[in-house]
Amino acid sequence: MCERMKTKEAILETQPDTRKEPDNIARTQLDNRMAKAKPLKFGWTSEQTETITNTLNVLLANYALHQQRLRSYHWNVKGRDFFDLHLEFKNQYKEATVYVDAIAERIRFFGKVPFSTMQEFLNAASLQETSGQLTAELMIRELLSDYRILAQFLSDAVDIAVEQGDSGTEEMVKKNIRSVEKHHWMLSAFMAQ
Ligand SMILES: [Fe+2]
Repeated sequence: MCERMKTKEAILETQPDTRKEPDNIARTQLDNRMAKAKPLKFGWTSEQTETITNTLNVLLANYALHQQRLRSYHWNVKGRDFFDLHLEFKNQYKEATVYVDAIAERIRFFGKVPFSTMQEFLNAASLQETSGQLTAELMIRELLSDYRILAQFLSDAVDIAVEQGDSGTEEMVKKNIRSVEKHHWMLSAFMAQ
């Protein structure tokens, strides 16, 4: 090795190795004792899981019916308020679609199977299908009725989630209660014209 290289090596040896991690940072946290301890929030018993997911499946079925109703009314509404209602029903069904997806995926989180066929929805839901050939006023009355029924299912779902210590479901459902209340208010206000 030439003298110049030797000098360079000597300089490098004296400099701190910046690639070395500080002592207080673990290489991985896979040995984290807290994570290995008995799971708290992921540890529902099979009975609790059944209770939560059965409740969510009924909520899902009702929302699926409601969502399809909104689509039907979006397509079929007629009359002087066509432009307003056509758009409003679309906004509401888009929101319902997102919520249906959230409920189904919450059920999957618990390892259970969400209802997914029309027949399953119809069997489990309290909401019923209606004709799309209704007056605009009747459509709104039907939707107001949906929202009152959905509010009850949402409220029941919050109670179940709280009882089972399931804050994820509780948060998801509570968020939707406000949306249902808002839609109910707005459609009621529309009818009061
Ligand atoms: Fe459309």
